[in-house]
Amino acid sequence: MKIAVIGAGKFGTAMAFAMSKNNHEIIIYDIVQSRINDINQNHRNSEVFSDLVLPDNISARATFDEYLNKCSLVCVAVSSSALPLVLDQLSGFLTVENVILNLSKGFQKSTGSTLEKIYFEKLGKDILFGVGSGPNFATEIIAGDISAMTIATHSDRVFDVVSRAICSDIFFVQRSTDIVGVGICGAVKNVIAIIAGIHSGLGFGYNSKFVLLTKAVQEIVCLVKAAGGQPETVIGLAGVGDLLMTATSENSRNFTFGKYLGQGLSTELALQKVGSTVEGLDSVEPALMLAKNFNIQMPLVQAVFDIVYNQQEARSNVLKVLFN
Ligand SMILES: NC(=O)c1ccc[n+]([C@@H]2O[C@H](COP(=O)([O-])OP(=O)(O)OC[C@H]3O[C@@H](n4cnc5c(N)ncnc54)[C@H](O)[C@@H]3O)[C@@H](O)[C@H]2O)c1
Repeated sequence: MKIAVIGAGKFGTAMAFAMSKNNHEIIIYDIVQSRINDINQNHRNSEVFSDLVLPDNISARATFDEYLNKCSLVCVAVSSSALPLVLDQLSGFLTVENVILNLSKGFQKSTGSTLEKIYFEKLGKDILFGVGSGPNFATEIIAGDISAMTIATHSDRVFDVVSRAICSDIFFVQRSTDIVGVGICGAVKNVIAIIAGIHSGLGFGYNSKFVLLTKAVQEIVCLVKAAGGQPETVIGLAGVGDLLMTATSENSRNFTFGKYLGQGLSTELALQKVGSTVEGLDSVEPALMLAKNFNIQMPLVQAVFDIVYNQQEARSNVLKVLFN
């Protein structure tokens, strides 16, 4: 099968690598020319993974082109902030025959809407569309560790194409029809990872960590239900699966950023120390916007907002949410 992956970052590269095991012909698109050259000339993407050697069936291109409409599957793995522009640029190259899989996590920053709305707005309501999300550290995928992902789609054809592209003896997928719920879980867990990191940085233990995470699950269920999603989604791979992984691991940039805040660093210093984008920050205000639209409270997300943007004290905010 011909597959396009948009984004030669950590996750795009890892998913291209995972799918290459099934002998598909894969082209990765990115705007960073040095990555394109490295992939094509050296079979590496050293800026992203210094030790990974990519197989011959992966190559790269710097501009969108006609190859895209020949692809059975187009996977989009750019940051949520880059997504509107990427979809604008892609729209002229796709047809209703392409299956499109969103792998990005987040909200639309300006409106607080979930990402599928941007796809439908930019590419049309009739696209063959799915969302892939789960507990997936890119570094573990390239290490060949076992991984799994929920694929949310209303279309049997989309699920079939995505399954044939991704599934192998080390990667499996599960079906869902809850596009909205899967999207919300993937975005909010990054914010929860920040507060979980703050909690750890303050030196609290496991007892209260799992009070906090239980409250996080309740908070996410509430938002998913209000937005018309299915509460069961939250107990699946894209829900608690991804939440528990992201909110308990130092592999997560969001968790690590929060940990530095809990240890007393300023937002600027914590960001500097993490050294790369903390995607959860982009989801704080949109999540609150969405919650406000539905007239519901999100105390954990609000606490992150108060600590990061209102410079409120971390400890009292964490205690407030624990005892709330
Ligand atoms: N890193 C992970 O383990 C992981 C796991 C699951 C999901 N995700 C999600 O996948 C998305 C990407 O994450 P990442 O860690 O790979 O980010 P990243 O920043 O490492 O990579 C994003 C890539 O998109 C490229 N890009 C930006 N604008 C583009 C454009 N107009 N055309 C083509 N390429 C463009 C960038 O150059 C970059 O290489 C995020 O939404 C993230 O939440 C990441």
